[in-house]
Amino acid sequence: MDNNRKMWLNGEIMAVKDAKINVLSPTSQFGANVFEGIRCYWNQDEKQLYAFRLDDHFDRLANSIKLLKLECDYTIEDMKKGFFDIIKANDYKEDIAVRQTVFLDGFGSWSSTGPTGMFIAPIARKRSYDKKSLKCCISSWERISDRSLSPRIKVGANYLNSRLAHMEALENGYDTAIIMNNAGKVAEAPGSCLFLIRDNELITPSITSSILESITRDTVIKLAKEELNMIVTERDVDRTELYIADEIFLCGSAMEIMSVSNVDNYEIGNEEVGQITKELQRLYFEVIRGDNLNYSKWITPVY
Ligand SMILES: Cc1ncc(COP(=O)(O)O)c(C=O)c1O
Repeated sequence: MDNNRKMWLNGEIMAVKDAKINVLSPTSQFGANVFEGIRCYWNQDEKQLYAFRLDDHFDRLANSIKLLKLECDYTIEDMKKGFFDIIKANDYKEDIAVRQTVFLDGFGSWSSTGPTGMFIAPIARKRSYDKKSLKCCISSWERISDRSLSPRIKVGANYLNSRLAHMEALENGYDTAIIMNNAGKVAEAPGSCLFLIRDNELITPSITSSILESITRDTVIKLAKEELNMIVTERDVDRTELYIADEIFLCGSAMEIMSVSNVDNYEIGNEEVGQITKELQRLYFEVIRGDNLNYSKWITPVY
């Protein structure tokens, strides 16, 4: 990690190694922080860095703050200004990921509502996996639910559920896991949402299936409908439907669009990246880099 890269903490720009927080704060003790992982893509021809679906990320951050009843003095305009300032301070001219986090600071407990702080940390980022396709298992862990700790809230503590599932998958020789919800239906993967294709229909668990309301998921749905004229269905998905799917892929800001070629040792398709997955990847990469003018509403120039 480049420790000299700069980050933004509570209104100040500093080297990452100098950014310190209180170890007794509720964020440190209980994972009481809400955050967004926002991607920006460098367009070499235009010499421009484009942030992807920035307003949607800040809307979701505001919802997470509301759901956890955190006091936050920063307006969305302040959050955006900090976001642009810190990327410019690092002068990034490559693809990056930006972690923007509102955290519960001070010496309170898990039930405090403030004070809150905010940090914004950009980092150079390539694709998450070198491989073209992933081998997944169905996790023995159950996805957290809206009746316990809602996956709709993008809070640090939620990631411990994903951690258990992902680590179990790695220990058993898989790339990652697919997690079922408390109704025994497919929810999502650690840090990404899931799509499957059956007979040219694109299917994904609905937003009440114990998933994060993923911005990439929404992007994929719109691209499939508008650009590929596909039928897209949001519904319950059974485990065994995965085993007989024509194609499966995971998606998320970090994951982008990643093919799944094997689930629980059942081959998906012929273990190649499927045609529809390839087509959606092509469209997605065009859109995020600012090479598809139909979707310029989703990209914001940084410089
Ligand atoms: C649990 C979970 N599901 C899905 C996603 C994908 O969401 P998005 O597309 O908004 O990045 C993420 C990543 O943030 C996540 O953590």
